[in-house]
Amino acid sequence: MIAIEGLSKTFETSGGEPHLALDGISIDIPKGQFLSILGPSGCGKSTLLYIVGGFVPASAGRIRVDGRAIAGPGPDRGPVFQEFALFPWKTVRGNVLYGLLQQGVPRDQAERRVSELLQMVHLSRYADFYPKELSGGMKQRVAIARTLAYDPAILLMDEPFGALDAHTRTKLQNELLSIWERDRKTVLFVTHSVEEAVYLSDRVMVMTPSPGRQKAVFDIDLPRPRIRAELLLNRRYQEYLIAIERLVQDGGEDEA
Ligand SMILES: Nc1ncnc2c1ncn2[C@@H]1O[C@H](COP(=O)(O)OP(=O)(O)O)[C@@H](O)[C@H]1O
Ligand SMILES: [Mg+2]
Repeated sequence: MIAIEGLSKTFETSGGEPHLALDGISIDIPKGQFLSILGPSGCGKSTLLYIVGGFVPASAGRIRVDGRAIAGPGPDRGPVFQEFALFPWKTVRGNVLYGLLQQGVPRDQAERRVSELLQMVHLSRYADFYPKELSGGMKQRVAIARTLAYDPAILLMDEPFGALDAHTRTKLQNELLSIWERDRKTVLFVTHSVEEAVYLSDRVMVMTPSPGRQKAVFDIDLPRPRIRAELLLNRRYQEYLIAIERLVQDGGEDEA
């Protein structure tokens, strides 16, 4: 469904030196797959998601979604990026409603959809709260609901749980998994956590330090639905963690 072929990105920098951020990424991501992208800071993970999202043009290579080259952002690809902050002057409901009304969905229909979504992310009681009245985990759930609202086939998630405490992170991982198991969206999920990547994904792509190249792609052959407490004792799960951890550590020492 997403076909990435020989994708490279060179940024022009203010110093004048071109900077190669991504070098020759090629991967096919079948519809409904949960793919995580792991790699050291600065290896181009965000850039890759921005390019797939259509927010940044590639320098070389091709990306096709359902056979069509991408020409910019579209409602088929839903970003969950930290940079896309919530509107502080809108309530939780208002934030999730906004995109639907923009798309011309009739208000009563949009409001029903928002109620369902807030229920799904366990925020119904907070519908009338403003972002500043929410915890980090709650804001992240609003951001996810806001993107799910217009039902994109593809979710682009850039370290969505990176800033959260361990407990909230586990909760949101499980919520994301249950949403994914229900809707089977294609997910591109950037994370720094090997454990998070293995726990959530069908496949994990490990990238090299800058310039980002593919180092390895692992198929995560673990049963679903996944239950963390059971996985911890699963031999294959442990082997994935060790193999991927080794690969991530190897050669990444000089990166922040
Ligand atoms: N707009 C930009 N202009 C110039 N360089 C950029 C720009 N965005 C990212 N980069 C550079 O590209 C590389 C990859 O960045 P990024 O995709 O943010 O990495 P990651 O998300 O893996 O930490 C970094 O070296 C970064 O400095
Ligand atoms: Mg990043």
